[in-house]
Amino acid sequence: MLPPGSMGWPCVGETLQLYSQDPNDFFTHKQTRYGNIFKSHILGCPCVMLASPEAARFVLVTHAHLFKPTYPKSKEKMIGPFALFFHQGNYHTNLRKLVQSSFAPEAVRKLVPGIEAIAISALESWASTSGQAIHTFHEMKKFSFEVGILSIFGHLGGKYMEELKENYSILDKGYNSFPTNLPGTAYNKAILARKRLGEIMSEIICERREKDLLVEKDLLGHLLNFKNEEGQTLSEDQISDNIVGVLFAAQDTTASLLTWILKYLHDDQKLLEAVKAEQKMIYESNDGGKRPLTWAQTRKMPITHKVILESLRMASIVSFTFREAVVDVEYEGYLIPKGWKVMPLFRNIHHNPEFFVDPQNFDPSRFEVVPKPNTFMPFGTGVHACPGNELAKLEMLILIHHLVTKFRWEVVGSQQSGTEYGPFPVPRKGLPLKFWKESPIKTPNNCASS
Ligand code: HEM
Repeated sequence: MLPPGSMGWPCVGETLQLYSQDPNDFFTHKQTRYGNIFKSHILGCPCVMLASPEAARFVLVTHAHLFKPTYPKSKEKMIGPFALFFHQGNYHTNLRKLVQSSFAPEAVRKLVPGIEAIAISALESWASTSGQAIHTFHEMKKFSFEVGILSIFGHLGGKYMEELKENYSILDKGYNSFPTNLPGTAYNKAILARKRLGEIMSEIICERREKDLLVEKDLLGHLLNFKNEEGQTLSEDQISDNIVGVLFAAQDTTASLLTWILKYLHDDQKLLEAVKAEQKMIYESNDGGKRPLTWAQTRKMPITHKVILESLRMASIVSFTFREAVVDVEYEGYLIPKGWKVMPLFRNIHHNPEFFVDPQNFDPSRFEVVPKPNTFMPFGTGVHACPGNELAKLEMLILIHHLVTKFRWEVVGSQQSGTEYGPFPVPRKGLPLKFWKESPIKTPNNCASS
């Protein structure tokens, strides 16, 4: 028996219903009407949507081998077909180990000084706009891109950095455009930019080989040194597809969440004061910011850390994911036919009052108690869970530290609420903000010297 639900109109299914309203309202309405498992038809595909922690675990963890990752062909072409998230089996397992080790705590802790420099430079530039509002999401994208580049290539020369930035931004504009490959279309420009990105990465690889820098411990170093059980290394295409894949996975997710954090803190001044107090203690213990932030200090920011967790829950920026059944699967008496898409709905689980009391209320203190198993999956779960979660949290902690200790911000415009999707949810108009620098905090040391 198929799960309950509606398949909508012939051909279009329920795609129009999904996109003509807030997608969250669509999923919530369906869950209220049909329960935790229901069928639908969107974007030309029949699918089964799953809104319970047990069902998400079934698809993503215990029976992951029955469901394969699935993405539109146009996206695969743009990112590169060898990127790990398009795969399962041996190739995926090997690459995943490699990516995971590049972003494990032991690896990302070395990035603290580099990320700190990027964060300070970004904040200084926002405060120097002479009262002009910034588009917060766009600025956060620049920040998360630069951190991504640092973690992949280490400190990259200015020429390569500019070329990567320029071409990646053209590619980025084409990701969500209609896939018509005619000259002048955003899609066509993106495909050309992707080709140039491949060429730039080839040059970087060549330079590393010439300078004998293959022992570097960044992601590129790991990719260049990789050998599978048969002793095979990765091709340049495999390397560049995975680099673009990581940039793609890292940029908009982190930028969207940071934008939400700024909004949540702005909307709750009491909470902002608590975060400031926590960060100012660290700032003062670093001689009023004269000494750099350390990895150990980033591990001791309990209030800020809970703000990040609650923002991940509240915004649930990866609201759901897609898989495809590779055989007919039975779950709880329902049939999921082979070839149908399966969508674990993370956001519905994160907003279910059974697991998170008063779920629409932003309350970081709820994370003083560990959530029930499988009810909190902002970074996914199972074989495809996010390998970049430590880096994402680290860059957020570092940016927030410098933000609240030295800067202030105000949301511009009367219409402060609302969400846009691109495709991740972002506060309306990318959250226009005015930024300025606070006068330096008086610490015993800098009082004495002034
Ligand atoms: C707030 C920031 C982030 C969020 C919320 C997030 C969320 C996720 C989620 C939910 C998945 C699993 C998708 C699925 O199961 O289909 C995922 C996968 C992935 N993420 Fe993240 N991510 C974030 C940041 C990052 C960063 C900074 C990196 C890289 C440094 C990264 C790299 C990846 C990669 C490579 C995958 C694919 C893993 C695989 O298929 O094995 N992510 N992410």
